[in-house]
Amino acid sequence: MILVTGGAGFIGSNFVLQWCNNGDEPVLNLDALTYAGNLANLQSLVGNTQHRFVHGSICDSQLLAKLFAEHQPRAVVHFAAESHVDRSITGPEAFVETNVVGTFRLLEAARTYWNSLEGAKKNAFRFLHVSTDEVYGTLEPNDPAFTETTPYAPNSPYSASKAASDHLVRSYFHTYGMPVLTTNCSNNYGPFHFPEKLIPLMIVNALAGKALPVYGDGQQIRDWLYVEDHCSGIRRVLEAGTCGETYNIGGWNEKANIDIVNTVCSLLDELAPPASRQVIHQQTGKKVEHYAELVTYVTDRPGHDRRYAIDARKIERELGWKPAETFDTGIRKTVAWYLANQDWVKDVINGSYRDWVTQQYGGEKA
Ligand code: NAD
Ligand code: TYD
Repeated sequence: MILVTGGAGFIGSNFVLQWCNNGDEPVLNLDALTYAGNLANLQSLVGNTQHRFVHGSICDSQLLAKLFAEHQPRAVVHFAAESHVDRSITGPEAFVETNVVGTFRLLEAARTYWNSLEGAKKNAFRFLHVSTDEVYGTLEPNDPAFTETTPYAPNSPYSASKAASDHLVRSYFHTYGMPVLTTNCSNNYGPFHFPEKLIPLMIVNALAGKALPVYGDGQQIRDWLYVEDHCSGIRRVLEAGTCGETYNIGGWNEKANIDIVNTVCSLLDELAPPASRQVIHQQTGKKVEHYAELVTYVTDRPGHDRRYAIDARKIERELGWKPAETFDTGIRKTVAWYLANQDWVKDVINGSYRDWVTQQYGGEKA
């Protein structure tokens, strides 16, 4: 079996679902169910014994030791993290705790377990660390895209904490010979994306007639990858990646934020016309005719990185991986998913899934 951390979050839950759709190897899913973790993402696996969920933290060394000893995973795929840049600006400590200390504790537990293995089992073990392109810092308009050898220059507490975790992972290969792999991916989008991030926030706010807050001049560039492509890239690296190597994963989709927002608005105009839904502009009280009327420029994020771009040629050349979706197909699927899953959105927003967690677990570790 494999151990996945953070498998109730956005990318982790897409990964667990894809894993279960592509084979029968069991997956043990360890997630602390912070505000970003949501078991409703895994609803379709209820009753499927291939997936087993454990509520707990990667910071809990005792729990980690017990899970490794009991379940003997052949691999770890490590998603668990605090992931939102804006939250890292207002409250950086949780990012150091989970992303740095948590990754360290997970590495230590994995090392102890790996040391206890022998022969083929020991050789086959893998620790795959999921990271971000944000560790490379920001690019000027004409700079080449980030490669695996671009020097680290993190600019936010989030990216600094992820950079620290990447360095720890790297050191476990060089110092202990532990079989680690690291992936650095660009911005993901798709189903189950928590509506604090750009694309789902714009969809959810637009449908409610709320302002669409665009930071600064909206000309910051991100390189977007459909989440299922990210998950297939991770599966490919786990299967065939060279230990100690890092792989950039990206979709070759550099877009300015304002263009993303306008694209989302036009798709919504087509798929959920504001007139047919009687959408009222919450600030002016007028009927909305086109969702783009809701675009509102707001104060920029402090230290806002201007441009990210991923050069994904290494994973294509060495492992034969390429994204399946274009941005046009992926964003259409994403908007359609949010329109078809408004109950999921409602539950996330009104916090009823958080209530469910308290009710189910009573705040105790399972
Ligand atoms: P997310 O915030 O949606 O999910 C994170 C998950 O981790 C949640 O389920 C949360 O409950 C869990 N978690 C948090 N602290 C934990 C702890 N101490 N112990 C166990 N579980 C804990 O994040 P995401 O967008 O799915 O990102 C997953 C990973 O991918 C992160 O490591 C992130 O840095 C990386 N990444 C994300 C993106 C992106 O665009 N979202 C891009 C590149 C890399
Ligand atoms: P986000 O989804 O938070 O991802 P990241 O900061 O990891 O790239 O933001 C994507 C881009 O969108 C980023 O440049 C910040 C911008 N943004 C806005 O303009 N308005 C918003 O309300 C949010 C959440 C983000």
